[in-house]
Amino acid sequence: MRADRSGEDKAPREIVSFVRRGERLTPSRQSAWDRLSDQYVLDPPRGSRDTVPGADASLDLQEVFGRRAELVVEVGTGLGENIVAAAQSHPQRDHLAVEVYRPGLAQTLNRIDRAGCPRNLRLLPLDAQRSLPALLPEASISELWVYFADPWPKARHHKRRLINPPFLDAVLPLLSDRATFRLATDWAQYAHHMRRLLDARAELELLHPAGPRPEGVTSDTLPVDLAHTGWAPRFEGRVKTSFENKGGGAGRLVWDLAYTRVPRPSVGDPL
Ligand SMILES: C[S@@+](CC[C@H](N)C(=O)[O-])C[C@H]1O[C@@H](n2cnc3c(N)ncnc32)[C@H](O)[C@@H]1O
Repeated sequence: MRADRSGEDKAPREIVSFVRRGERLTPSRQSAWDRLSDQYVLDPPRGSRDTVPGADASLDLQEVFGRRAELVVEVGTGLGENIVAAAQSHPQRDHLAVEVYRPGLAQTLNRIDRAGCPRNLRLLPLDAQRSLPALLPEASISELWVYFADPWPKARHHKRRLINPPFLDAVLPLLSDRATFRLATDWAQYAHHMRRLLDARAELELLHPAGPRPEGVTSDTLPVDLAHTGWAPRFEGRVKTSFENKGGGAGRLVWDLAYTRVPRPSVGDPL
């Protein structure tokens, strides 16, 4: 507990991986929001904050999508380039975009409109770490994507990185056996941080243990002990986003990673 100026105890501020930026919408985004948010943006009851679900919130995937299909979840969808392209090109799968940035969600609705309004996609406007474990059943995700998460480069901000133990503890139980977890970043230091945390998780196995580092030179500093192998080739379904373009423009390489969820032991398996 911290004491405020009045001397009263305050609950410690929760560490979150995002900053709330301007929420104002351009006319075109506002129009997309007005026309499509009822159909696409999920609206579970909220708890202590508007990015956290209430204790009574739940999500019935059968009811939401009208069927049960493989579920692809992208955390931090930004402007929606990847998740909308995926929903359009994989009608047999369902897709969930998790994002707290309202203008990004509105732009995603714009894209959904241009893509002919695929019905196999919904948007969840909540903090992924605090909402997914409350809303989704264990082993319900077939693919989890985190692309170009905010790098939080200053050492005192590393605790705000999305890829940290609390997020992994929240989402790894939601991956089905042999589910794929794909990540990409244009920050070598963050790529190194991801490798250290993800390689150490017993639930995960690298999909490309012999995969080489991306080719080329990078403008950022490579950690001396950065792994030489274990990197994934660019996932063919990964669309170039404005954040990837920004990294490329600054001379940074892109580090792709792919893991598979190790199958859970079945009842009767020897320990
Ligand atoms: C740097 S942007 C990248 C967006 C997109 N993936 C891309 O490649 O263009 C990271 C996004 O993650 C979102 N984000 C960060 N933490 C989040 C969380 N805990 N839950 C949901 N979204 C989050 C931010 O709002 C931001 O839009």
